[in-house]
Order: sequence, then structure tokens, then C-alpha cells
Amino acid sequence: MTEKLLSIHELTKSIGSITPVKGISFDLKRGGCTALLGPNGAGKTTTLRMLAGLIPPTRGEIKHGSADKQTNDWRHRIGYLPQYPKFYSWMSGKEYLSFSAKLSGLSGQKALQRSQEVIEMVGLQQASKRRISGYSGGMKQRLGIAQALVHEPELIMLDEPVSALDPIGRREVMDLLNRLRGEVTILFSTHVLHDAEEICDDMVLMVDGEIAEKGALSELRSKYRQPVLSIEVEPGERELAWLHG
Ligand SMILES: Nc1ncnc2c1ncn2[C@@H]1O[C@H](COP(=O)(O)OP(=O)(O)O)[C@@H](O)[C@H]1O
Ligand SMILES: [Mg+2]
Repeated sequence: MTEKLLSIHELTKSIGSITPVKGISFDLKRGGCTALLGPNGAGKTTTLRMLAGLIPPTRGEIKHGSADKQTNDWRHRIGYLPQYPKFYSWMSGKEYLSFSAKLSGLSGQKALQRSQEVIEMVGLQQASKRRISGYSGGMKQRLGIAQALVHEPELIMLDEPVSALDPIGRREVMDLLNRLRGEVTILFSTHVLHDAEEICDDMVLMVDGEIAEKGALSELRSKYRQPVLSIEVEPGERELAWLHG
């Protein structure tokens, strides 16, 4: 039985008169990759912001396997990439990462060492000394993922990491996520089923603030699989078989 890294139960967020997240429950397996799938407005960003500790839930529970026993704080164990990340574009990639590492509490020497490691993990060695203002969309997104990884979290949460990218940037980031699979637990949101299928084991489908479906992608695929064509043959099927034989 795989260990649960995170369990959320009846999580709800109301903002004024609207309720973007309506009592959702799911678990994340340690070491797994889960897609939070859903159309725009489904409540994905609101859910991830609650899981990242950026906004408090109105109701419900978030249980983190490695939360600090005294404070129940899990934020040091997670990395988060927002849907619209902002960078200090005058910094170089390396400066930005050591800045992020220090913000996460790493000391000077360790911050430099981890920055170098994550630069290599995301394949930005060549560009690490260049200003972020000259980076492509895919490079910025990879830098954002490096930032989420720099303090060695056990879970990274990425909000639509490929949605705003052109096909080349998209490929770069998908390949990176494929490489990270198994190294760190991944939760990422997307509105594209194909992206979820490419890298994830599990899926949570949100529609209008609720979970419409969840589970292992392989099981969901066989549950909903339908024949593409069904052929009924009249007498004379032998000739048909012969024609295609
Ligand atoms: N701070 C807010 N104030 C008002 N409405 C909000 C706020 N945050 C989210 N919403 C609304 O909640 C719904 C879900 O938003 P969001 O979580 O961003 O969905 P998704 O990320 O799936 O596109 C949307 O209709 C959005 O307009
Ligand atoms: Mg969103």
C-alpha cells in the first residue's frame, strides 16, 4: 500500500457570495504524479493556493504526512509554481535561484550549491548567468520549476505549467516533468487531458468546484473506453474478410 503524502477532506473555499471549491476530497501518493484537470474556472488555482498555504480554506481539512508535529506547518516541505509567475527580470537565473533558496531558509553556501544543482536539473546551465529578461517562455517556466525545487521539497505543485507556452516551450517543460517523475511527488494542474496522460499516474477532474472523477488514469481510461468504430456486417462477410485479408 502506497503511503499518502497529502490527504484533503471536504475542502471548501468561499469568497464573498461565490464558492469556487465545494467540499473536495482526494489523496496524493508519495512519489506519484497527479494531474488536477479541469476547464477554466473549475477551481484549480484556488485549490492549489489552499494546498500551498497561501489562502486559508473556509472549511475542510488538509493533512500533510510530514507536517511539523508542533506547528502543523508543511510549507517547508512543498514547492509551488503559480499560474502567472513573476520574476525579477534584471536578475540572472542563478541570482534568482540563490535568492529563492535564501528566502526558503537555506544558508549562503547551501543556497549556492542547491542553486547550481537545480540549474542542472532543469537544463539551464548555459543561460544561468544571463538576465531573465532574455529568457524564452519555456526557459522562464523551467526557472520557475527550479525555484520550486531549490529547498528540496517532497511535493511540488505547479499551476498550469505549460498552458501559456508555445509548442517548443511546452515540449521542454513536459520533458522536464517526465525526468522529475519519481524523484519528487508532483501535483500539476492543466486543462488539457493529453498533458495529464503523458506524465501522470493519477487524475482528479474538477468541474465547477467539485470533483467529477478521480483515480488512476489507466483505470479511468478502461472505464470510459469506447470503440471508435463498430461494424455490423450483413451476409457476405467472407468477401469483406477476404478483401481486407
Ligand atoms: N479572489 C477571487 N474573487 C472572486 N472570484 C474568484 C476569486 N478567486 C477565484 N474566483 C472565481 O472562482 C472560480 C474558480 O477560479 P480558479 O480557481 O482560478 O479556477 P481555475 O484555476 O480552474 O481556472 C472562477 O469563477 C473565478 O472567477
Ligand atoms: Mg487557474
